[in-house]
Amino acid sequence: MTTKKILILTGDGIGPEIMGEAVKVLEVLKAGGEAIEWRFGLLGGAAYDAEGHPYPPSTQKAAREADAILLAAVGGPKYDELPRELRPERGLLGIRKDLNLFANFRPALAFEELADASSLKKEVIAGLDILILRELTGDIYFGQPRGRRTNADGQLEGYDTMHYSVPEIERIARVAFEAARKRHKRVCSVDKENVLETSRLWREVVIRIGQEYPDVELTHMYVDNAAMQLLKRPKQFDVIVTGNIFGDILSDEASMLAGSIGMLPSASLDANNKGMYEPIHGSAPDIAGQNKANPLATILSVGMMFRYSFGRGDVADRIDAAVKQVLRDGYRTGDIAQPGEKVIGTREMGDAVVAALKRLA
Ligand code: IPM
Ligand code: MG
Repeated sequence: MTTKKILILTGDGIGPEIMGEAVKVLEVLKAGGEAIEWRFGLLGGAAYDAEGHPYPPSTQKAAREADAILLAAVGGPKYDELPRELRPERGLLGIRKDLNLFANFRPALAFEELADASSLKKEVIAGLDILILRELTGDIYFGQPRGRRTNADGQLEGYDTMHYSVPEIERIARVAFEAARKRHKRVCSVDKENVLETSRLWREVVIRIGQEYPDVELTHMYVDNAAMQLLKRPKQFDVIVTGNIFGDILSDEASMLAGSIGMLPSASLDANNKGMYEPIHGSAPDIAGQNKANPLATILSVGMMFRYSFGRGDVADRIDAAVKQVLRDGYRTGDIAQPGEKVIGTREMGDAVVAALKRLA
């Protein structure tokens, strides 16, 4: 294997702390013989502070050169007053679009060991394993025109444009059916076909692509119903495929099934499996710099990187097993602790994973 080049973007808030623990994991893997190297770059608020832009040219260049990117999280109240084009979120949207990372994998897994941390009943979530596949470079997030205008009544209005082209729908649908083939062979496409033209086309195209995958069962659900079903009977789902904005909302909802948003990694891939890997949680400025954040989602993101971009499911399995082991051993950061349980810090959690990983080597 040629040496894989990883670009690490620590971002803002708790980003540097949780990434510090992910880097410890990379160090163990490298010491164990994995051909990887990494460098650091800037994205979001940190990039704005240093270079005046949330996705500066230096990061663009490094991102294009890398085989994979690890990102912690971006954003913070400090940047709230900036013009929209300079806000940390624009950095994130910018890198997704620039690298054409259209397929966003957001698994929602219920860790047995954390069943009590979920706000749902144990039996509703026990054994849950769903994959939300969110289209990430289209939809109302990027649609033009958008802006403000004066309407026919002379009132100021804001507007955005939702659209999806046939090729955009085709490619995400294919990713969904392929992913389902490696799982339980069921795809639920989520849309708002009873109201939106975009969704009507979405559904037509998904059905047509689905005919190429007769071994995969395809169902459809309106997004409002999907939001309800995720809480009512989440285990009915295998792969959920949906557009950018519906996926944004449903994946936050689904993260709660796992017990904590601090547990879930994600992958955003282009057509060649180059990807950016990040926890689905945000930068949690309220606890930044206090050694309180849960680094597990970032560490699990390292695993996803090995699985999806480096074709090394075996390494991913080891990382997943190490995380499960520390949970079984009772290690808890504040977000996943039950009353009375001993709470440890970010660094201690990272150390525990590293120790477990070495034992599994
Ligand atoms: C996410 C986030 C982003 C999004 C924000 C920070 C722009 O919520 O990755 O889900 O809306 O895509
Ligand atoms: Mg979101």
